[in-house]
Amino acid sequence: MIICFSGTGNTRWAANKIAALTEDAGIEHFSSEQRGDILGIFFPIYAWGIPRIFINKLHQFFRNPENQGKFSYVYVVCTCGDDIGLTDKEVKSLLQQYGLNNISICSIQMPETYIDLPGFKLDTHVAATKKIAEAEKLLSVFAKKIQRQEIFNEVNRGTCSWIKSRILRPLFYKLFVDDKKFVVDKDLCIHCGKCAKVCPVHNIDCSPTNLPQYKHHCTGCLACYHHCPKNAIQRIYTKGKGQYLPPLF
Ligand SMILES: Cc1cc2nc3c(=O)[nH]c(=O)nc-3n(C[C@H](O)[C@H](O)[C@H](O)COP(=O)(O)O)c2cc1C
Ligand code: SF4
Ligand code: SF4
Repeated sequence: MIICFSGTGNTRWAANKIAALTEDAGIEHFSSEQRGDILGIFFPIYAWGIPRIFINKLHQFFRNPENQGKFSYVYVVCTCGDDIGLTDKEVKSLLQQYGLNNISICSIQMPETYIDLPGFKLDTHVAATKKIAEAEKLLSVFAKKIQRQEIFNEVNRGTCSWIKSRILRPLFYKLFVDDKKFVVDKDLCIHCGKCAKVCPVHNIDCSPTNLPQYKHHCTGCLACYHHCPKNAIQRIYTKGKGQYLPPLF
């Protein structure tokens, strides 16, 4: 079983890859008694941690009696632009609250999606293509380890991980995650509804006549910005920085 949160789509792509790779290689040849249930958890790194909205979803999931005592092996794949800070520690302490101890975790670099601060920009086309090719190779390696139910911790914490995850992360959420600064250009918008469709938390209302309306429970993923076919959505520092669409599965 796989549970996945994805904003722009990088993580969904990675989850689809692993799902296909593990099934292709015949994971079902183990009997369920032998292996118990395997759970895969996929999410993007937002501000050196698990997206807050997904933390709540994970708690809901594990509090559900149907999911308690069900999983004997849990693997976690997080996609990031660069590094994950102390996310692996955060993940493990969350899962251990629910008695899960056989936990593997890896981070996979994917093209950057965050651009709404000075100095933050998309990867060049060449760099993005290279990251995706490298990610594909790594996912194949991890798929094999997952099938063998190996315990691994292969993550890129980066430098100053404590400062990033413990100091900068709460500041980022406090100061930068809200939808009040999104502006939709009325001359560009064609009312196609794509922004509403891609928003993973259903935070946008769209109608054929009105401009998209943000409903103030945004998680800051920028999927609406990247997927708008007219680049009609801007935030504070996004102007002129271009858009990114994830690879198709
Ligand atoms: C709000 C936000 C915060 C991010 N923070 C980080 C970060 O702390 N470290 C990092 O390496 N990448 C960061 N990124 C980049 C994403 O983790 C990366 O591009 C990821 O693959 C996006 O996956 P998604 O398309 O499934 O949302 C951030 C992206 C967003 C939108
Ligand atoms: S995706 Fe862009 S063009 Fe389509 S409704 Fe949203 S803002 Fe308008
Ligand atoms: S409204 Fe917020 S949560 Fe929804 S797609 Fe846009 S940035 Fe992501």
